[in-house]
Amino acid sequence: MKGRKARGQILYPRHIAVIMDGNGRWAKKRLLPRGAGHRAGLKRMLELTEHAFLSGARYLTLYALSAENLQRPKEELDGLYALFRDYFSGNVSTLIKKGIRLKVIGDMSLLPPDIVELIANGERETAAGKGGLLILAIAYGARQEIVAAVNRAVSAGRAVDEAQFSSLLKTDGVPDPDLLIRTGKEQRLSNFLLWQSAYTELYFSDKMFPDFTSADFDRAVSDFLERDRRYGKLTPESEVII
Ligand code: IPE
Ligand code: IPE
Ligand code: MG
Repeated sequence: MKGRKARGQILYPRHIAVIMDGNGRWAKKRLLPRGAGHRAGLKRMLELTEHAFLSGARYLTLYALSAENLQRPKEELDGLYALFRDYFSGNVSTLIKKGIRLKVIGDMSLLPPDIVELIANGERETAAGKGGLLILAIAYGARQEIVAAVNRAVSAGRAVDEAQFSSLLKTDGVPDPDLLIRTGKEQRLSNFLLWQSAYTELYFSDKMFPDFTSADFDRAVSDFLERDRRYGKLTPESEVII
């Protein structure tokens, strides 16, 4: 599905966000350790990243690890950290080749220092990319992000309007998500982009993330394209009826 224009309207969501949930249940169903689910999830994440940008997305935000996930058992976290190390060591060159810029949002002080360094290198090395922005949310929590922004405004001693407040968030300069997909059957936001998703269209899939294919991604986008985004106003159709 290519991004295209009709009557001046962009017919592809510019910014898509994904809560990649269900790796553990995917593994459990196959009598595998949870780490095998995370590995399968990472493979899927690579496929969907390529697919999303080729299809016309300009921004893709992937929820990889919440701040709350850091309370999981050490064994699971160590497995996840190993996957992050693999990802940042092995995939930055692919992102550079494809012209995709990388940005990581989250509380870096909660992560092992070597991963923070890999992230900083990845962001620096991809900084010139013009083909799209890949945002990975790692050790991310929306409430924490909002509280940090409030505190920045307070220490600057000034009142802020909505646009100024947005610019104090880690997503400064990034348009709000048009479409937010959550895999893994749960229908909640789990502390993801709470401010930014005020008018985002939500799409929930029962599929566990490792099973969520590019075709499923296209179905979510097609569903989005059928939606009527009113932003609290009246649609042109209903204005005609009235
Ligand atoms: C999402 O999968 C990935 C992370 C939170 C790191 P889960 O690990 O939450 O998988 P389920 O929800 O237990 O199936
Ligand atoms: C949300 O999934 C976080 C990620 C997918 C990274 P969780 O599995 O942590 O969410 P809850 O605990 O079911 O709300
Ligand atoms: Mg989960």
